[in-house]
Amino acid sequence: MKLIMAPMEGITTYPLRNAFNQCFGGFDEYMSPFISPADKKPLKIKEAKDIEPENNKDIVLIPQVLTHKVKQFVKTAEALSEKGYSEVNLNLGCPSGTVTAKGRGSGMLKDPDELERFLDQVFETLAEKGEEDKIQISLKTRIGFWSKEEWEWLLTIYNRFPVKELTVHPRLAVDMYKGMPDLDAFRHAYEHAKMPLVYNGDIRSKEDYDRIVSEFPEISGIMIGRAVVSNPFLLEEIRTGNKVSFEDSKDKLKEYHDAVYSLYHESFQGNKNLLLRMKEFWVYLFASIQPDKRLQKELLKAKDFNEYEMAVRVLFS
Ligand SMILES: Cc1cc2nc3c(=O)[nH]c(=O)nc-3n(C[C@H](O)[C@H](O)[C@H](O)COP(=O)(O)O)c2cc1C
Repeated sequence: MKLIMAPMEGITTYPLRNAFNQCFGGFDEYMSPFISPADKKPLKIKEAKDIEPENNKDIVLIPQVLTHKVKQFVKTAEALSEKGYSEVNLNLGCPSGTVTAKGRGSGMLKDPDELERFLDQVFETLAEKGEEDKIQISLKTRIGFWSKEEWEWLLTIYNRFPVKELTVHPRLAVDMYKGMPDLDAFRHAYEHAKMPLVYNGDIRSKEDYDRIVSEFPEISGIMIGRAVVSNPFLLEEIRTGNKVSFEDSKDKLKEYHDAVYSLYHESFQGNKNLLLRMKEFWVYLFASIQPDKRLQKELLKAKDFNEYEMAVRVLFS
């Protein structure tokens, strides 16, 4: 059963992926946050940097694309293939209003006929260009936009195509992250999907992981996002069953933080947005490691790199 780090826009970019891999390892694959192509430019500078093989040397990366335009998708897939990628993932899950309003991400689930036409044309175009073996397409989807009644038909559509792998986050787009993942809907995919299946959603502990593996032993992988960003020791906990405390893990966590911080510096080249990124990184960590509230506050209100570094030193001391 492979483990995949979920794509999280603005969070699991190459600095975090590399730092995680160096310090903890354990993921067989990483999916990139979505690339959102423009007509004339399949890859923006920032996106190209994120998926550049040079910046992802020791990891297996699956680049993801967010678009509802056939030409944009094919052009981007070709650009990615030129960089050496053989699999490209299509985002059919992003529930954000700005994305779905333009008919992209989970917005594509609103109109299954249109989605089917899109997939038809993508696979046809790649076949016409003789590229269907060079670039395989995988999908990451929710189970519908408004209602779970949509799922059966969506899966029937996916089954019509030579999809490399289907990752299912069993929630509706309108649910965003509310409620529980719908395991009955996932079971429907487990029983009927013709392609390898990956489970994604709310794996926060060894118990969650074990439950999915025992209910769905034949899936090809499990994808984990928020919980591993929040608790980077999660994979170790899943492997060993032991919970890691903040006090016992300080050295490792510091090594991880320093690696993320230094790679972000390189990526942001001193830009102030780097501070915001680091604070976001800590907001996730604070959900699991919870050091003294005063230290958390100090770190989150740092106004410059000096204040930030001082707060981090105190936190790890
Ligand atoms: C801040 C944030 C950014 C995300 N960005 C992406 C993205 O770029 N592409 C994508 O397919 N899913 C994205 N997701 C969804 C995650 O990949 C994943 O499907 C979701 O968080 C559920 O898995 P989890 O419970 O393990 O976190 C994002 C989620 C969050 C919270």
